[in-house]
Amino acid sequence: MTTSTQLGGQDLDRIVYSAATIARRVEEMGREISECYDEGDDLLVLGLLKGSFIFLADLVRSIDLPLQVDFMVASSYGSGTESSGDVRLVYDGEPSLEGRAVIIVEDIVESGNTMDRLVPILAERNPKSLEICALLHKRLGGVVKEPRWVGFDAPEEFLVGYGLDFNENYRHLPYIASL
Ligand code: IMP
Ligand code: MG
Repeated sequence: MTTSTQLGGQDLDRIVYSAATIARRVEEMGREISECYDEGDDLLVLGLLKGSFIFLADLVRSIDLPLQVDFMVASSYGSGTESSGDVRLVYDGEPSLEGRAVIIVEDIVESGNTMDRLVPILAERNPKSLEICALLHKRLGGVVKEPRWVGFDAPEEFLVGYGLDFNENYRHLPYIASL
């Protein structure tokens, strides 16, 4: 597609999802989510930092229901592109989940490790419902708790932009590119 971008000393390969493509799909997801809940559901949109910050910001503006927003930080990656398999909640503001409709917002599901470890921890806090909304899903298989909403089935490439990083770089790109 467009030319490769020299950023942070690394070349981007190609744009996989353009800003316009993402915007269209995220708006659609917001509408899908709005249809699944009622006004009285006490909706909590719970973003996993840092990867979900841009996606969540766009998504909640397309959800036509009263809701609250909170964030957590789960860490499964050190630096680089390999998952360590070890998932820790390194920031948890402990919002009340009791009796609430909770949507966990994640940038990308790869092995499913992060979600599979996190969901039981959050389920213990007795939400009325607990669903996952992921912008991207690599469909590698073996995921225990599948997201209810997925933006795009992603290629098996390392993706950056629109919140996704490589060693903390590229998060600000308005599109998603492969490295
Ligand atoms: P999982 O636990 O293997 O499902 O990996 C999920 C987490 O790994 C995501 O929250 C991302 O932070 C990170 N991740 C997985 N694939 C990519 C990618 O292609 N680009 C950037 N981060 C990724
Ligand atoms: Mg991440």
